[in-house]
Amino acid sequence: MIDSPLRVAVVGSGPAGFYAAAALLASDLEIEVDLIERLPTPWGLVRLGVAPDHPNIKAVSRAFEKTAAHEAFRFFGNVEVGRDVTHEELTSLYDAVLYSVGAQTDRSLGIPGEELPGSWAATEFVAWYNGHPDFQHLSFDLSGERAVVIGNGNVALDVARMLALTPEELATTDTTDAAIEAINGAGIREILVVGRRGPVQAAWTPVEVGELGELAGADVIVDPADLELDEASEAELAAAPPTVRRNIEHLRDYAGRAPADKPRAIRLRFLSSPVAILGDERVEAIELVRNQLVDGRAEATGETETIPCGIVFRSVGYQGVPLPGVPFDERSRTIPNEGGRVTPGVYCAGWIKRGPSGVIGTNKKDATETVQLVLEDARAGELPPREEGSLEELLAARGVEAVLYAGWQSIDTAERAAGEPHGRPRVKLATWDELLAAARAPESAK
Ligand SMILES: Cc1cc2nc3c(=O)[nH]c(=O)nc-3n(C[C@H](O)[C@H](O)[C@H](O)COP(=O)(O)OP(=O)(O)OC[C@H]3O[C@@H](n4cnc5c(N)ncnc54)[C@H](O)[C@@H]3O)c2cc1C
Ligand SMILES: NC(=O)c1ccc[n+]([C@@H]2O[C@H](COP(=O)([O-])OP(=O)(O)OC[C@H]3O[C@@H](n4cnc5c(N)ncnc54)[C@H](OP(=O)(O)O)[C@@H]3O)[C@@H](O)[C@H]2O)c1
Repeated sequence: MIDSPLRVAVVGSGPAGFYAAAALLASDLEIEVDLIERLPTPWGLVRLGVAPDHPNIKAVSRAFEKTAAHEAFRFFGNVEVGRDVTHEELTSLYDAVLYSVGAQTDRSLGIPGEELPGSWAATEFVAWYNGHPDFQHLSFDLSGERAVVIGNGNVALDVARMLALTPEELATTDTTDAAIEAINGAGIREILVVGRRGPVQAAWTPVEVGELGELAGADVIVDPADLELDEASEAELAAAPPTVRRNIEHLRDYAGRAPADKPRAIRLRFLSSPVAILGDERVEAIELVRNQLVDGRAEATGETETIPCGIVFRSVGYQGVPLPGVPFDERSRTIPNEGGRVTPGVYCAGWIKRGPSGVIGTNKKDATETVQLVLEDARAGELPPREEGSLEELLAARGVEAVLYAGWQSIDTAERAAGEPHGRPRVKLATWDELLAAARAPESAK
């Protein structure tokens, strides 16, 4: 028998969480969804990952707002599962719990010097310039002439592009003021993006590669020799999807361009891996080894080169972190699941389900697949019975101050109002104190 309404807790309010909530609320079963989020703000990486110069992509949040307007939807921000409420408590209060907590940390390179001051995870830089309240105490020294970005994914391109934006380009974004000031005042002349494999194997996508060529303040430099492909890469390119061929077309265009003496340059370099980050007190240089491709893998040749640089960003992927009491696979750094089902009553979606890859839209299909299993289990009477009580009571008894959706709307209104006179979409509140104070503002008491 189905308890009516079915009560589902979704943990994590990024794309996967919102798409899961939308799919649950669209079902023909009567369902109430509580979306639990550790930050006072929703949208996950749409707010705190997607680059500030990509406002059109951030506009996907409008779809999430529609979901939030559903009468059976509630938002509990500033509530961290594992800290404020346990997994066991959630499973007893809800018929089903669906984790969509993303991949909260970075992968490391495992090379000497990685911990030197000036060697950063891209995750940290991205969270900082996007106003994540856990990262605002960081200070990035951008005074050196060369920054090195390790990795050939779209996040590496985001980091390179953000470092290359002009004051005019930054001025109309919601990049934090601290980051705008630091980037505008940076001494950086060259941003070297280093891929361990070749241009055909790069993980980035054509729109992102193409927009490098449109930057007002940076030339894009590609060595034509790097585009001379070996036989295996030629064969791979011939069989590759059109996106890879478009990437290569962009790179060929860059390789044929004469530099326009713009203030900064983004130099794309391939078949090179970092072997050490060098410096006494802080980063002074990076040692790269030349690779060759063997069966599609990067294999070091032994030929090394030391390149002076002031800062290094490691952009080699994100990874999930375990939640107390929730199964976790250390190897894949995900919650073990079948199609999103962990056990009847516990589910997952998004990056914590399949690993840190895929664009925002990928999470829609992924979350919908998971929700189908929730509904299947509900209809089959497989969900363990829930107990008496509610999340609000539990949080109140514990003195946890949840930020409800009205509280977020109050933050949103304040941020948009601050941005409006400057032609910016918003000026983000980026400290916990500011965010919680805005959430408590009178309009959120409605
Ligand atoms: C830097 C960057 C830029 C990107 N840019 C683009 C882009 O331009 N276009 C595009 O299509 N895709 C982009 N992506 C990919 C896209 O952001 C992801 O596919 C998507 O965000 C993954 O969704 P998710 O819901 O699984 O995770 P997330 O978006 O990370 O959401 C997870 C949420 O869970 C919350 N959470 C974590 N732990 C807990 C806990 N214990 N309790 C409560 N809440 C918790 C987090 O605070 C977060 O809000 C980008 C990714 C990155 C990293
Ligand atoms: N605008 C957008 O649409 C946008 C923007 C940002 C992010 N995203 C999406 O978000 C997801 C995550 O992006 P991401 O850039 O973090 O990850 P990603 O696409 O997986 O790219 C990771 C890069 O790091 C490299 N790498 C991994 N380990 C390495 C090592 N030890 N040494 C050197 N290089 C190493 C990988 O090379 P190998 O291929 O050799 O492993 C790859 O080039 C992707 O799906 C991406 O498309 C989209």
